[in-house]
Amino acid sequence: MTEVRHLLEVDDLSAAELAAVLDLADDPAPEAVLAGRGVGLLFEKPSNRTRNSMEMAVVQLGGHPVTMTGDEVGIDTRETAEDVARTLSCYHALIAARVFEHQKIERIAAASSVPVVNLLSDDAHPCQALADLLTIRQRFGDLKGRRVAWVGDGNNVCRSLLLAGGLAGMDLWVATPPGFEPPRAVAERARALGGAVEVTNDPQMATQGAEVVVTDVWASMGQEAEASERRRAFAGFTVDEELMARAAPDAVFLHCLPAHRGEEVSAGVVDGRQSLVWAEAENRMHAQRGLLLFLLGARP
Ligand code: CP
Ligand code: NVA
Repeated sequence: MTEVRHLLEVDDLSAAELAAVLDLADDPAPEAVLAGRGVGLLFEKPSNRTRNSMEMAVVQLGGHPVTMTGDEVGIDTRETAEDVARTLSCYHALIAARVFEHQKIERIAAASSVPVVNLLSDDAHPCQALADLLTIRQRFGDLKGRRVAWVGDGNNVCRSLLLAGGLAGMDLWVATPPGFEPPRAVAERARALGGAVEVTNDPQMATQGAEVVVTDVWASMGQEAEASERRRAFAGFTVDEELMARAAPDAVFLHCLPAHRGEEVSAGVVDGRQSLVWAEAENRMHAQRGLLLFLLGARP
């Protein structure tokens, strides 16, 4: 029996496998590997891009997506996460889930007999990182050595981007307010994978000469009660025209969305000529189609 592969964090892939996923994402006529098969999509948190891009990636591979909220399934209330996973494995070729505690997606994967994809947890957003690398590769042609500046919260999206950038050998700068840095262990892991990683509290320094400037919301889903406190802590970390002026002249701006204009990004930047956020959003679908192909055994 071949080993069941999961994607719970982006470095579940090797560097060569990451490149394979991105190449499969670019396949204009992919094989209908999901013909007559289903994919179960579970959401414990809201979603716009992830739900739509996953459903459409499944459709493009000939499959049928079944989307469920955590509440209607009752993960760990109506039945255990393990029993949810075992049940969905009976019907589907693959399970994907958006959860709060990262441990929950690990439990789902451990009990599943089909591949499991993390659609965002409190700790990781690997599908977003795949789409971001695809977007950067489309714009610049290659990834190795590209200088990326993350400005804002050292959150789930930041962590996965660090690890993906590490796998791709990128030059990664992270600027957060004190106390909001990504975990030291994640920066170390990204370095060990092959990335250059610098963590600072100075957004000007991080952005200097960057080819890609990336940010995300200051309060993630589940942190709503901290929003006003975080707004104060993140003062000075808005990606605005002045900060973008420090980046390389051909620099691009990325944001996983949803965006809060006037908080983590100015309207002029997110809606401006350097912004690739709509290509990035579209690339969620292409990257996940590549990922599904890979996890179901296709190779470029
Ligand atoms: N970027 C992203 O994951 O968006 P949604 O939360 O809308 O799915
Ligand atoms: N960091 C954000 C990303 C949303 C796509 C969150 O977790 O809410």
